Amino acid sequence: MEAGVAVTANSGTIFPVVWAGDRVQLIDQTRLPEQYELKDITTVAEMATAIRTMVVRGAPAIGVAAAFGMVLGAREYKGSDREGFLVHLEKVASELRQTRPTAVNLFWAIDRMLRAAQQPTATLEELQQHLLETAQSIAREDVQTCQAIGENGLRVLPKTPEKLRLLTHCNAGALATAGYGTALGVVRAAWAAGRLERLYADETRPRLQGAKLTAWECVQEGIPVTLLADTMAAHCMQRGMIDAVVVGADRIALNGDTANKIGTYSVALAAKAHNIPFFVAAPLSTIDTKIATGAEIPIEERHPQEIYQVGFSRITPAGVDFYNPAFDVTPAHLISGIITELGVFAPADLARGIGATAG
Ligand code: MRU
Repeated sequence: MEAGVAVTANSGTIFPVVWAGDRVQLIDQTRLPEQYELKDITTVAEMATAIRTMVVRGAPAIGVAAAFGMVLGAREYKGSDREGFLVHLEKVASELRQTRPTAVNLFWAIDRMLRAAQQPTATLEELQQHLLETAQSIAREDVQTCQAIGENGLRVLPKTPEKLRLLTHCNAGALATAGYGTALGVVRAAWAAGRLERLYADETRPRLQGAKLTAWECVQEGIPVTLLADTMAAHCMQRGMIDAVVVGADRIALNGDTANKIGTYSVALAAKAHNIPFFVAAPLSTIDTKIATGAEIPIEERHPQEIYQVGFSRITPAGVDFYNPAFDVTPAHLISGIITELGVFAPADLARGIGATAG
């Protein structure tokens, strides 16, 4: 099944962002796993809200959603002149850029859409059509990229034991991409190759992407999954229950420092202490070639309600202060390899490997 064709929960293929002729359909990730619901998005404002409120989330998926947001924005243009159209498109881009700050794929996809609009001889209709085709290419390429990441990851996973126990943090699965997933792409590839015994999934406080989304994806495909509270990963490593860790990324600096969901850094520290390989799986679109180190990565802070409330209950007394960073940065020295569609790089070789220069 091809990306952009259908979204189904039980086909074994999950596409969270789909163009449906005149609107975008998103799997509403705030409702999973209780409800599998598609949300129709018909305006840029609706798409911006969907990204901000995490109806769609995960770095590559945010990029794909923003690209389709640009398509909706292009169709909202009421004028008839090219210059006005390009000014309007810049405003749409600016609105979408405000949604979430850390995942660089958002900015990457918007910039690619803006470049696609630079066609001096095209009519407005042709430009709008070209933007749609570009967004569809971004989605299609992302699925292929994830499949390549899965295959490349499979090659670098430990050779023993034959059946691996992998651990992941957050959700870097089909739901977080256009389909298939990055870290979960590696897990899927390992499962398909008969090399996976079981996935351990951190629940991932405060938004619980591991408990809600990673676990849901695994159950859809019959991949054996054990859910852990975040506090349990180091204990499992100490007990010899984990053979390798694979996580996704929201932004990777040229030196290999990697921003991913809050808690990833602790997992990497624990993996290092137990001599367990720690892999980051991400497309090239997650590498920010403009920044040399992770210190330059903007870290999103989200509403404190995400930590003071569980379900509808407040879990802490009034008078407490809060800090709710959504991401942390794992330093390159804790990372065994960065698995991309081009191949697997040691962090120190990343810039050279992708042909970029720092600074
Ligand atoms: O806040 P989220 O759910 O958007 O964060 C998602 C992550 O941190 C993922 O691990 C990352 O985006 C990689 S997705 C392939």
